[in-house]
Formats: sequence, C-alpha cells, structure tokens
Amino acid sequence: MKLRSIELSLPGAAEAATFLTDIWGMAPASVEGATHYLRGSGSFPYLIALAESVDCYVRSTTFVCTADRLEQLKASVSAAGLNAASVVSHDPGGGYGIIVELAEGELLRFLVDAQEVAPIEGADLPVKLTHVVFNSIDAERTGHLVEDALGFRVSDRTKGMVFVRCNDSHHSTAFARAGISSLNHIAFEMEDLDAVMRGIGRLRDQDMAPAWGPGRHGPGANVFAYFIAPFGPVIEFSTAVNKVPDDYPVGAPEDWTWPARRIDQWGISTKDFDGLRAAEEKFRHRRDWEPQSLDVLTEENI
Ligand SMILES: [Fe+2]
Repeated sequence: MKLRSIELSLPGAAEAATFLTDIWGMAPASVEGATHYLRGSGSFPYLIALAESVDCYVRSTTFVCTADRLEQLKASVSAAGLNAASVVSHDPGGGYGIIVELAEGELLRFLVDAQEVAPIEGADLPVKLTHVVFNSIDAERTGHLVEDALGFRVSDRTKGMVFVRCNDSHHSTAFARAGISSLNHIAFEMEDLDAVMRGIGRLRDQDMAPAWGPGRHGPGANVFAYFIAPFGPVIEFSTAVNKVPDDYPVGAPEDWTWPARRIDQWGISTKDFDGLRAAEEKFRHRRDWEPQSLDVLTEENI
C-alpha cells in the first residue's frame, strides 16, 4: 500500500498549477478538461490534481495497492459499516478500486492496476507525496477506525496528532486534534535535506517565508518547511519520514514533549499559528457523492 496522490477542486486551478510548476518545483503531467495534473520525479503519473470549481474541497486522497489488499479492504470496510463505492479511475494511470468515506467525510480512494510512468530528472522536483494530513473533530476515533477498517497502524500519538502508517514509513497520513474536519496539509517528499532548503530559497525569491520551519519533527524525524500556498492550503517541503519496524512501539503524547518554547528537534523553528490555522480550514471534504455496493464497478469517476 502506498500513498499516491491528492485530488483537489478549487477556483483558479490553472493559477495554482502555475505556482506549483514555476515556483514550488513540480513538473506538469497533463491537462484534461479543466483539471491540471502535476507530477514529481518518481514513478507516479501525478501527485496532485487541481480541478476548476467554485468551491475549495478535497475530491479524494488516493492510495495504490495490490488486488489481494483491495479484497481485504472491501471486507473490512463493509464490516466497519463505512460508506463506500466501487470506482474506475479516469485520472492519469487509470486503475480501479474503491472509495471509502471515513467518519468525518474524508474520502480515501484505493486503486489497483493504476499504471506508473518512467521517472524523470529535474532540478529539485519533489519525489512523491510523503503524507497528507487531515484535521479531525475526533482524531482518536479516526485513528482506531483506520486501524480496524483499513488495516492501517497508528505509529504515534502526540498532543496534537495521531500519526498513521500504511506501510513501513512512519506515517502516510495523520489526523490532527483540531476540532474541525478539513485538509491540514500536503507534504511533498524532496530528494534530501538540501533539496528542502533550496525549496525554501525558491520561495524566498518570491518573498514567501515559511509559515513554520525549517525544523526537524519529532515523530517521523523528517526535516520540514510549511508554506501557505497562494491558492489556499498548507503545503510542505519534507525529507522522507523514518522507516519503522513492524513491532514499532506506539508512542504516547508524554513520549513526545519539547522543552519550553521549542517546537522541533533543533529548537530553531518559528510558527505562524493563526495563518496556518486559517489555511488549514480552507479545504473541506467532498460531499456530493453516492455510496453504493462495493461489488458493482461503474464508469463513474469519483
Ligand atoms: Fe507534515
């Protein structure tokens, strides 16, 4: 199981795509209708889809998995009583699978047979998405839910977040104890620490400072720099998160505390709490979709 992509709908999709290619450092993949697809250097056909819309919302967050894993998911999602639907993807790479609605409206799509593409070289392209994080009203409940219904594993709990993995990377998603349900941020995995730092430099050239960072996180131990994108959401340059063994002991909030006035391992980062919070509330979850039987494949593109 791997996190592949996020699909957003928003006003000004073309301008958002221009920012992500010309300044953030992604490569264009394709434009289909009013949807812009952008990729990184890795083998996924795209990492982010930007569809023109009057409202900002998350259409879906997409994972790719094996056919066996999809069958397990169908059974565990049905047993958990979650809303779900079978889907055929019309996004680049195609594939088929299911889309699952979690307790607070988060729509996670799981695809099988999604095609990959040849990696490309480019100056500081992100490699892939390393994690997509959501704000939750009840992050604890959702942490338990994704363990039971999706077979994900909680890696760590902190005062602010429940970190969840779907493979041996410390987290591919997390649920923030935020009091609302929305997209918290999208993290792009850069080649190394220097690529993160050069990304900060590119944004400095545009008079954009990090809203938080640079710094090194506790859980996952990734180097981070968060920015508020001109098109709304919080986006992050990140190094890869740590790999963890199967028997990784689940950390509790008391295992992840900082000395006074510090909020990262190095003790150097400052954080625009209010600016980040406003940006983290902009993208809510898609509502206009129809749950259906998981046995029926349709041509509908979710
Ligand atoms: Fe992050």
